[in-house]
Amino acid sequence: MSFVVAIDGPSGTGKGTITKLIAKEMGLLNIDTGAMYRSLALKCLKLGIKSLQEKEKIIEIAKNINIEIQHNAETQEIFLDGENVSTEIRTKEVTAFSSTVSSIPEVREVMVSMQKKMAQNKDIIMEGRDITTVVFPNADVKIYLDASMEERARRRYEENKEKGLQMSYEETLKAMEKRDYDDSHREVGPLKIAGDALVIDTTKLTIEEVKEKIKEIINKSYKQSKD
Ligand code: DC
Repeated sequence: MSFVVAIDGPSGTGKGTITKLIAKEMGLLNIDTGAMYRSLALKCLKLGIKSLQEKEKIIEIAKNINIEIQHNAETQEIFLDGENVSTEIRTKEVTAFSSTVSSIPEVREVMVSMQKKMAQNKDIIMEGRDITTVVFPNADVKIYLDASMEERARRRYEENKEKGLQMSYEETLKAMEKRDYDDSHREVGPLKIAGDALVIDTTKLTIEEVKEKIKEIINKSYKQSKD
């Protein structure tokens, strides 16, 4: 038996940071599914594939891709065909193309099946866009994190600035609006709120506050599952 915490939401809600912290503090295996779509996008871009016109090639690459998530005490590293790509998958080109490749139903099928396998017989926390709706609709805990578009763009802008990535606030906001639109309007596995997910608006909350709120929900559900 495994215990599954599923978290969905758009970018800039603090999903990634909060999930990592909770995983560490509660001893759960953290699976960042966005990093998997990003790795596929990176591989395609490296092979010169830049648009949906080469959909068949993208599907073939997805079917044969080798993605590993290595969990260390402090960090989580992503390996693509044996190479550590944890930093490379965060560029703006990869970010934009990851949303494009994720719109292909056959790609989603491959990724969802990989995600289910990774979680088998483990206590996990998994974050993405379709975890509460498609990957684990029966998860023990289902949470949808949200925040206003302006606040999410502001957070991403500050984060990029810290990493030395040159992108104005307006450019960040525009790119985010487009990605949100595409992610929530695709045919298969769109970003949406599952009927039974608990929605947390993080606009006015700190990372610490959201983290504690979610930990409380997990603890309650964990106790119930053992009763
Ligand atoms: O969470 P992220 O920003 O790292 O995700 C990158 C892209 O991958 C995002 O634009 C949508 C896609 N994605 C998805 O379609 N399904 C998921 N479960 C996770 C991410």
